[in-house]
Amino acid sequence: MKNRIKGLVKLREEKNRSGGLDKIKKRKQQGKMTARERIEYFFDPHTFVELQGYIQHRSSHFGLEKKKFWGDGVITGFGKVHDKTVYIFSQDFTILGGSLGEMHAKKIVNVIDLALKAGAPIVGINDSGGARIQEGISSLAGYGDIFYRNSRASGVIPQISVIMGPCAGGAVYSPGLTDFIFMVNHDAYMFITGPEVIKAVNKEEVTFEELGGAETHSVISGVCHFVGQDEKNTLDMVKELLGYIPCSNIEEPPVIETDDAFDRMEDQLNEIVPVNPNKPYNVKELIALVVDESKFFEVHRNYAQNLVVGFARLGGKTVGIIANNPDIYAGTLDVNASLKGARFIRFCDCFNIPLISFVDVPGFLPGRDQEKMGIIKHGAKMLYAYSEATVPKITVITRKAYGGAYIVMSSKHLGADIVFAWPTAEIAVMGPQGAINIIFKKDISTAEQPESLKERLITEYKEKFANPRLPASYGYIDDIIMPTETRPQLIKSLESLQNKVLTNPPKKHGNIPL
Ligand code: HXC
Repeated sequence: MKNRIKGLVKLREEKNRSGGLDKIKKRKQQGKMTARERIEYFFDPHTFVELQGYIQHRSSHFGLEKKKFWGDGVITGFGKVHDKTVYIFSQDFTILGGSLGEMHAKKIVNVIDLALKAGAPIVGINDSGGARIQEGISSLAGYGDIFYRNSRASGVIPQISVIMGPCAGGAVYSPGLTDFIFMVNHDAYMFITGPEVIKAVNKEEVTFEELGGAETHSVISGVCHFVGQDEKNTLDMVKELLGYIPCSNIEEPPVIETDDAFDRMEDQLNEIVPVNPNKPYNVKELIALVVDESKFFEVHRNYAQNLVVGFARLGGKTVGIIANNPDIYAGTLDVNASLKGARFIRFCDCFNIPLISFVDVPGFLPGRDQEKMGIIKHGAKMLYAYSEATVPKITVITRKAYGGAYIVMSSKHLGADIVFAWPTAEIAVMGPQGAINIIFKKDISTAEQPESLKERLITEYKEKFANPRLPASYGYIDDIIMPTETRPQLIKSLESLQNKVLTNPPKKHGNIPL
């Protein structure tokens, strides 16, 4: 027995040495954690249980039979975060560059399958040279098997990807299928083809950073939702996200007790909307004044900043917040904002997270570029996502709600349960200037004093439409509230909708305009 135990100790040591001490040393010199250290840092202490740690590849092409390592370049298992079970895989770059072959893929497939059966989130830490070239089709098959699992698990369990090194080739499509992507700034890259191939094919010179770094993907492409400053900061953010969301689609989000009074009135809210309707303000300040302890976990912070989305709590309960930000492009909705909003709304709806929308939107961003980029189909995604969502939907119109953008932003017409307006709300087909120029075109062009006529007409238009009384009289707004009352009104409304039951008509699935 003693010998067996000694044997196991030796075997474990061998396994934990990954691709060898020299390779681990190199990683350390690069300031990186090993795959195992990342897992240890991520989970509550002593909760990690490893699975299939002794798997090895069975390939013998191109000398691979001489390069066998325990675990085959990925560590898989489960542990606890905030006392809740989370499944994980963490690719080990010290073993064949973390490349994915048949058995490596099998381990990832196994852990996703388990997470799905157990109804627990899956977190994947990606650090890999992509498909293991020596294993050919078996590597591609492995990726295919993973993509299939990601698609099947979508909307059932939260899937989170963390990019902590290279993520190249088709490897980017598994993260691309998951709900959220985190990247480490200056230390993570995602691209379907690397700079060398691009140079050979397009004669184009591009750096790793420009092609697929965290900035490219968090600011321009929108592929990445969160950027961490280093590996630990990135993993801390993943844990923070997990604190807001349920483990699966049949669970409610966690409730966290708060000392922040439910009936807190916030005088500053009365001052937040400038008197001049053309003056911007930062909606994040408004959000901070309303939510529990001013904590707002923003998603996609650097992308399409004209729309702000993220998680917060109201009375201890998680909510998903969608808010136009007048500080950027006057809060208009464009292609990127629509994509960002629609995806966030759908995540919240999948996972039973009520939607709170703060509306101050002058309309869709007009222009040739937007039309060419397909604002029609992308704007339709927002309409679809809000309409399809069956979770509680509460709306607060703080200022402008014009045109199609009024309808899109969680109006009653798309099934919002409760719509509040501040006294500063303006709801109409378009803003006064544009409206006057269209409906009184002839009168203005023939007037002796067109400017003073315009001024008078604008005042009349504003009196009629630049306040919420008319829509309230039609029942499109449930109540006109004091800005100070926003928090208590939202908390009471959320509570009233706690047991909301609504289902969409039976169907295989809808056909969202992709
Ligand atoms: C097998 C690989 C590998 C791969 C790296 N390695 N990528 N082995 N298959 N795809 C091995 C290297 O041979 C080396 O082994 C070790 O990993 C470390 O690699 P280095 O190149 O020394 O490291 P570094 O300089 O840090 O460069 C990392 C890298 C580079 C940027 C990831 O290795 C690279 O460009 N790899 C190829 C990336 C790529 O194009 N992948 C796409 C494959 S196609 P030794 O033994 O020397 O330590 C694909 C399609 C999938 O993924 C489609 C699915 C639908």
